Amino acid sequence: MTRENWGTRLGFILAAVGSAVGLGNIWRFPAVSYENGGGAFLLPYLIALLTAGIPLLIMEFSIGRKYRASAPLAWRKLNKNTEFIGWWQVAIASVIAVYYAAIIGWAAWYTWYSFDQTWGSEPDAFLFTDFLGGGEGPVTEVGLFDHFGDFVPGIALAMGVIWLIVGIVIVAGVRKGIELSNRIFMPLLIAMFGVLVVQALTLDGATDGLDAFFTPDWEALSGSGVWVAAYGQIFFSLSIGFGIMITYASYLRKKADLTTSALTVGFANSSFELLAGIGVFSVLGFMAAQSGTGIDQQVTDGVGLAFVAFPNIINTLPVAAGLFGVLFFLSLTVAGLSSLISIVQVPVAAFKDRFNLNHKATAIIVWLVLAVVSVGFFPTVNGLLLLDVADGYINSFGIAGAGFISIVSVVWFTRKWRDLIDEANRTSVFQVVKRRKDLWFGALGVLTPLILGITLYSDARERFDPNVVDSSVLNYGIAVAGGALAFGIIMNLVLRAYKTPGEDDRDPEDEPTTDPSDDSSSTEVEESQDDDSAERKEAQQ
Ligand code: PHE
Repeated sequence: MTRENWGTRLGFILAAVGSAVGLGNIWRFPAVSYENGGGAFLLPYLIALLTAGIPLLIMEFSIGRKYRASAPLAWRKLNKNTEFIGWWQVAIASVIAVYYAAIIGWAAWYTWYSFDQTWGSEPDAFLFTDFLGGGEGPVTEVGLFDHFGDFVPGIALAMGVIWLIVGIVIVAGVRKGIELSNRIFMPLLIAMFGVLVVQALTLDGATDGLDAFFTPDWEALSGSGVWVAAYGQIFFSLSIGFGIMITYASYLRKKADLTTSALTVGFANSSFELLAGIGVFSVLGFMAAQSGTGIDQQVTDGVGLAFVAFPNIINTLPVAAGLFGVLFFLSLTVAGLSSLISIVQVPVAAFKDRFNLNHKATAIIVWLVLAVVSVGFFPTVNGLLLLDVADGYINSFGIAGAGFISIVSVVWFTRKWRDLIDEANRTSVFQVVKRRKDLWFGALGVLTPLILGITLYSDARERFDPNVVDSSVLNYGIAVAGGALAFGIIMNLVLRAYKTPGEDDRDPEDEPTTDPSDDSSSTEVEESQDDDSAERKEAQQ
């Protein structure tokens, strides 16, 4: 059976960028950066990008293309004992998918609300009581399981539409669905966001905002917190450690360049992040000037920034307020949608590849389960809280945990990292780590796990602190995050002896490694040998 491919290299890059650019860029980066030293934060951020972001992106691209399978099967081909990582990633992606759709649904409504500023003069009360709480809020005051299942129909409707779009894209497949949608979404996003930033820069007070954003506070760099924040931001923002990039790279042709693509995706994502920082802080500078308060008073992130601070700002804008609102919320919607598509593709491709199932049937079933859970739990009065806790736990344990385990498995446990470097170099013009493998090894194998380990430890300490923790939050959080890991381990154990139909009978351990200078050793069967070796020669020149 031949595997689906991306139509063009640009298509793949746009899809990967579409996954990476999301809420993390627009509402997370500006605040994280400001709180961690402003202009000075760019230094740890850049180091995190170069030592962890890009190398890990190359690693995930190499795993995906080498084994030509989505996460669980690819991890199984790497080593029988690492299949659990793939299923763990499937569970993490599924959890993220069900709540991420809710945020996109809110953004979609707010796009509509922007036309006449439906949120009125008190966006705060509007958001928490009328909008999210369906009049029964404020949702910030309900308990985690209060009002359980108390529906807010408007949000359910928007989420239904979002899921419908995702369903159509996923069922249509890699080329006609994912690639095509990103070919539309990405240029649209860049155009809209570009106009937005230009409009933001012309506002009074914009330069003060930018000053606050970029003024370096070098002292902030001495604490370990800044480094943890920088690595955390890179991981979240680049969508690495979730199996997404493995899945997307599995649709690459054998000849595709990996390292240049990783660099392109990494830098494109960071550029978008910087652009968002500039836009957001210009606007915050304007708001500070209008209200006569300091910029530090204006800085928030997440739900507060997008759905409270921005509506307030839109209320104050002298001209084209509606346009500004539409551009902002539509950008959030589009950026979120393309990330959601990539997250949903992880479980769909996982089941399809591992059990060799029919694409459409698998896509419809997986999609249906996710959509029902999503629309069943999150458009409710307690939805915001459910979302917030799931997000906190699954992200910190997902990013730090699964990221840590996958790196340690590749570098220390299975020692496949050399093969993966060779896989990347085999077809890449840019040979990042040909001579200095030790450098790559030091960065990815030692420094990154160390920082992830520290992150995991300090985060767990905080979450398990008996003095501050509400036990229902803790139990639900552990159930979600622990459940994901347990799912991975159970699947690994259950499927240990189960071979994917068509899976090579040889033990994957015995596969000859692909040497860059050896044209005859090829473990790939799907593409013709001639084709393959000619391309390799070409790539080596
Ligand atoms: N990378 C996306 C962002 O920046 C978020 C995301 C995280 C997407 C995890 C998929 C998986 O918002």
